[in-house]
Amino acid sequence: MERIKTGISGLDEMLNGGLISGRPYIVTGSPGAGKTILGMQFLMEGAKNRERGMYISLEESGEELTENMSVFGWNLHSIKIIDTAHELGGDKWLIKADTIVSKPEFSLVNLMRVMRERMQIYKPKRLVIDSLTSVKMLYEKEYDMRRGLLSLMNFLLRSKATSLLTSTSTSGSMEESLASGVIKLHMIESRGEVLNAISIVKIRGSDFDKHIRPMKITNEGIVVFPNETIFE
Ligand SMILES: Nc1ncnc2c1ncn2[C@@H]1O[C@H](COP(=O)(O)OP(=O)(O)OP(=O)(O)O)[C@@H](O)[C@H]1O
Ligand SMILES: [Mg+2]
Repeated sequence: MERIKTGISGLDEMLNGGLISGRPYIVTGSPGAGKTILGMQFLMEGAKNRERGMYISLEESGEELTENMSVFGWNLHSIKIIDTAHELGGDKWLIKADTIVSKPEFSLVNLMRVMRERMQIYKPKRLVIDSLTSVKMLYEKEYDMRRGLLSLMNFLLRSKATSLLTSTSTSGSMEESLASGVIKLHMIESRGEVLNAISIVKIRGSDFDKHIRPMKITNEGIVVFPNETIFE
């Protein structure tokens, strides 16, 4: 099985060399935990090797995203950013994490149709959907949500791209059970400060480091310390 590097060296070490390619993975964590940064760092790693990367933004505008990522010195020109607010027909598609989906035009079927069209043209090797929480808000019934998420996971598997889907859900959520793997970002309060940490919850078909490892968000992106533990 081919492995694909996340671009975060400590995390790749925890993953025994990287993610198994061509599968969908969940990156979960509370707001501000570093999901978007991790996703973009994953795409930038691909860009270094001339692998195409596509970023589907469901919460931030392309402008906001580019601005937020500028501190890391990443050249996002090589990444295809699908800004759902602009690219998919006015603000009809813009959905915010803190509100109910604003317009009925936004549906998983429409999103997948647009993704299919764009992916056929662009042929990304790496894909990020940020965030899946927006997609989940489309559903009232658990049963419909499960069917929707399952069709999305199957679509992503067939696409052959290695994809990261961000999520703010608590552990054990539906998407975690459907995905091929789950990476979890932690924010831990300790002695009056908040520490960042990372763990791997599951990777189908592979062994991995079971410890929670400290990480830092720096001007170069996320740095993971794979030989350190968080509680001394
Ligand atoms: N240059 C930087 N140096 C250090 N920390 C930074 C820097 N830029 C951002 N951060 C940290 O990263 C956090 C934001 O990370 P990110 O946008 O990836 O979070 P997220 O998990 O995607 O959040 P959300 O769920 O709200 O989208 C900030 O709250 C801040 O703590
Ligand atoms: Mg984010």
